[in-house]
Amino acid sequence: MMLSLAGSLALPAHGLWGNSQKSSQVAGAVLFRDKGCAHCHGAAGIGTQKAPSLTGLPHDKKWTPAKLTDQILNGGQKMPPFADSLTDQQIAEIVVYLRAKHKPTPPGGTAAPPMSAAD
Ligand code: HEC
Repeated sequence: MMLSLAGSLALPAHGLWGNSQKSSQVAGAVLFRDKGCAHCHGAAGIGTQKAPSLTGLPHDKKWTPAKLTDQILNGGQKMPPFADSLTDQQIAEIVVYLRAKHKPTPPGGTAAPPMSAAD
């Protein structure tokens, strides 16, 4: 009976880490570029004089999702907090992006936007 299959088609509980992980990475890439992260950390997080490179984070066990979320929410010594300017969902997407070993290019090119374009 086909009907007996219906119950097994429910969404997996780990959706964010399953099929939608790639789209979360892309969403995170766009946020990273458009919300000001790239202004200090450089396009794709390669680093600038203002802020360290973030490209090694996927290999650094110290940077758990919880610690990354905390850094973004509360900032650091010179990094501003983003608790008021990003939603929990957006922060989760940026964390997925930061932890991706092969970072997707945000649609629209790799260049950081002009400062005045961000709001
Ligand atoms: C005004 C410049 C600035 C902006 C904007 C900024 N950061 Fe940072 N960030 C820093 C600096 C400087 C550090 C080094 C630690 C500190 O002083 O806070 C840092 C550290 C970090 C770290 C820890 C890396 C490490 O190895 O210490 C993460 C992760 C991070 N930033 C992510 C982000 C994300 C994601 C955004 C955007 C939501 C962002 N940053 C926006 C300046 C910035």
